[in-house]
Amino acid sequence: MKALKRTIAAAAGLAMMAGLAACGGGRSDSAGSSEKVDKGATIGISMPTKSEERWNKDGNGLKKNLEAKGYKVILSFADDKPAQQNADIENMVNNSAKIVVVAAKDGTAVGPAVEKAKDAGAKVIAYDRLIMNTEAVDYYATFQLEQTGVLEANYIIDKLKLKDGAKGPFNIELFTGSPDDNNAKFFFKGAWELLQPYFKSGVLVNPSRHGGGVKADSTVEDIWQKISVMSWKAEQAQKDMESILDSTYSHGEKLDAVLSPYDGISQGVINAIQSKRPDMKPGTDSWPIITGQDAMEIAITNINNGTQAQTVFKDVNKLAAAVQEMIIQIAEGKEVTGADKTYNNGTKDVKSKLLDPVSITKDNLSDLVDAGYVTQDRFDQLTKS
Ligand code: BGC
Repeated sequence: MKALKRTIAAAAGLAMMAGLAACGGGRSDSAGSSEKVDKGATIGISMPTKSEERWNKDGNGLKKNLEAKGYKVILSFADDKPAQQNADIENMVNNSAKIVVVAAKDGTAVGPAVEKAKDAGAKVIAYDRLIMNTEAVDYYATFQLEQTGVLEANYIIDKLKLKDGAKGPFNIELFTGSPDDNNAKFFFKGAWELLQPYFKSGVLVNPSRHGGGVKADSTVEDIWQKISVMSWKAEQAQKDMESILDSTYSHGEKLDAVLSPYDGISQGVINAIQSKRPDMKPGTDSWPIITGQDAMEIAITNINNGTQAQTVFKDVNKLAAAVQEMIIQIAEGKEVTGADKTYNNGTKDVKSKLLDPVSITKDNLSDLVDAGYVTQDRFDQLTKS
């Protein structure tokens, strides 16, 4: 038995030296082990980018709380570059980080870096975005992924009165998030399961050829990456929306709704409509229903002025608190509680803690203040118009 273990260890070592660590073979799942982490130990937090509002809140919030508990924290932002993120994580390992928290830019590309962390004895927590195709992830904490899409789709269904039997046909354009982010697929899955029946009955139609066109028989797997927006960038969404408007809506055609999975993408869509179709006026029937996600500052303004109709609020303070609790339980050698769901990452079922997202419209916009997400002063500035 010992000899067998030694052979496996040697083989794993060779595989790593050959740069094959990404396969993850032979690595044991040590989630739940009772090894303690010293107070004052280093914890690494690797965020995907500074250029999106939420990751700054997530990263800085978590850092502040962990430092208050006596840990040293290395916080890095990867500028949406997978290679940068892997270098950031290696730096954490070189600084003996005992727990590494990762919101991946590219859920698959980050595999080799977290495998190195795991091999160095660290625990790995996937933060908000799942790390794919590797054993080297102990826990995952996020918001119910499909629920984001459910809230967006239900908003569109309500506003178009589809459940009341409205016949349309209504023109809808659909976008998904970044093709390298597993979340983007699940957001769309939640939405598509609700919207597809209306495509089947012909009440909803997607007249553009964006991504080859979304059809009644499209499956999530078929379509989600074809209508995606790389790195969730507003600029790309704007370009895509401009070409949709040029090809399909340049002669006064009505656009009823845009399924957008993120406030930055919604902003790109709004910019495109304002430049290509100045006859569409927010607050009137000519303006499409546009959804979003993240309750960004720009969305607070847009919802207030009627250009965006809805966003999905994910209280990142709660996510940071949930992950902090995980970290402390791991550090104290206790069992991690509340990670009672699983998400499969292609290699294993990862124990997951899931929080609830909330739909925000003009009617409950000020809930963001009540939740402590934005101060009253800032809210007032964002909504004065
Ligand atoms: C997050 C969303 C966010 C998006 C763009 C996703 O992985 O779950 O909250 O809107 O990335 O940053």
